[in-house]
Amino acid sequence: MINIDKIRADFPILSEKVYGKDLVYFDNGATTHKPQVVIDAVSDFYAKYNSNIHRGSYYLSNISTQMYENARQKVQKFINAKSEKEVIFTKGTTEGLNLIASSFGSLLHKGDEIIISTMEHHANIVPWQMLRDRVGIDLKIIPLVDDFQLDLEAFANLITEKTKLVSVVHVSNTLGVVNPIEKIIEIAHYKGVPVLIDAAQSIQHKKIDVQELDCEFLVFSGHKIYAETGIGVLYGKQEWLEKLPPYQGGGDMIKDVSFEKTEFADLPFKFEAGTTNFVGAHSIAVAIDYLENIGLDKIEEYERKLYDYAYEKLSKIEDIELYATSKSNRISAISFNVKGVHHFDIGSMLDKFGIAVRTGTHCTQPLVNSIGIQGTVRASFSFYNTFKEIDYFIEILPRVINMFK
Ligand code: ALA
Repeated sequence: MINIDKIRADFPILSEKVYGKDLVYFDNGATTHKPQVVIDAVSDFYAKYNSNIHRGSYYLSNISTQMYENARQKVQKFINAKSEKEVIFTKGTTEGLNLIASSFGSLLHKGDEIIISTMEHHANIVPWQMLRDRVGIDLKIIPLVDDFQLDLEAFANLITEKTKLVSVVHVSNTLGVVNPIEKIIEIAHYKGVPVLIDAAQSIQHKKIDVQELDCEFLVFSGHKIYAETGIGVLYGKQEWLEKLPPYQGGGDMIKDVSFEKTEFADLPFKFEAGTTNFVGAHSIAVAIDYLENIGLDKIEEYERKLYDYAYEKLSKIEDIELYATSKSNRISAISFNVKGVHHFDIGSMLDKFGIAVRTGTHCTQPLVNSIGIQGTVRASFSFYNTFKEIDYFIEILPRVINMFK
């Protein structure tokens, strides 16, 4: 079992007051708070080591470079990639997805097909639409079945000889549904199609092993795994990354430049143009150490109990509509509405009691529209949340609802 008091003491912001009340932070799907070790690591980096990576022939630059490359190795081990060449630092999940849509997309032709799902975040929809408008690819969408799950039978039927990539979200940021990506990868690979996994909402909640999954690409963000914002990771199988052209041009991604031509650097540098967020990369390494010290298995077990507890209590509140018919394959996020009350009103009033939730479409407008609603209230949990916070939320919510009835 995790030591919740000790963990909460690691996160200074959790002791902050909101309108004079204890902060109850249930918006971990949007971003997570930082433990003191991460805050200190960022501040120490600037205080002691700051200098550009891969460029200086001096002491500080060598240390900074070493810390950046150590961070890459830390990520490699964390996701069990075969090689550190398969770990590319990006600005975040959105940039990782745009990178693939651009670089992979440049190999595509009119009529080629990309499959995504109804559950995608806008970051896994819009870059493909931009590619569609540029190149003329077709975008196919995996539909939902009644209980907010992806329709795998329909998915298998969407794949044709023109399908070039399947790009799907692991855990829905809106519904908390954990998609059966093992099965999706198996189906896609059976037809010879590579798979990209958006792990932005899963990697902080459960262990991910990219070799076991056998996905071709996987992306996630630092700020959602307790590290800094403005840093993320793209994992790609080496043979695929070798095949793709660079995403952006600039310093550090080249071997040789003349006005006639450029020879690109080897992996992973080919995809890291310009000065990267090297301090952010270090913060990911420190955050991974922090998570591994607690244990991803313990985090998953605790968050599961917290989720089930919240789900049971919420489902008993009058007029609540939960967008989940089963809680067994869900993580962190619970979306709901209250009959007759606008989601924004619920969120704004909860805020007055110190409870932070997200409201709206959660950057998944097509998903929310397909359910036939305008938006939801979303509570999304982390291992630093407590059963007591959920009790408080469940006590306050009916009071909030009554204010609007
Ligand atoms: N994608 C983030 C969320 O779901 C911002 O809230």
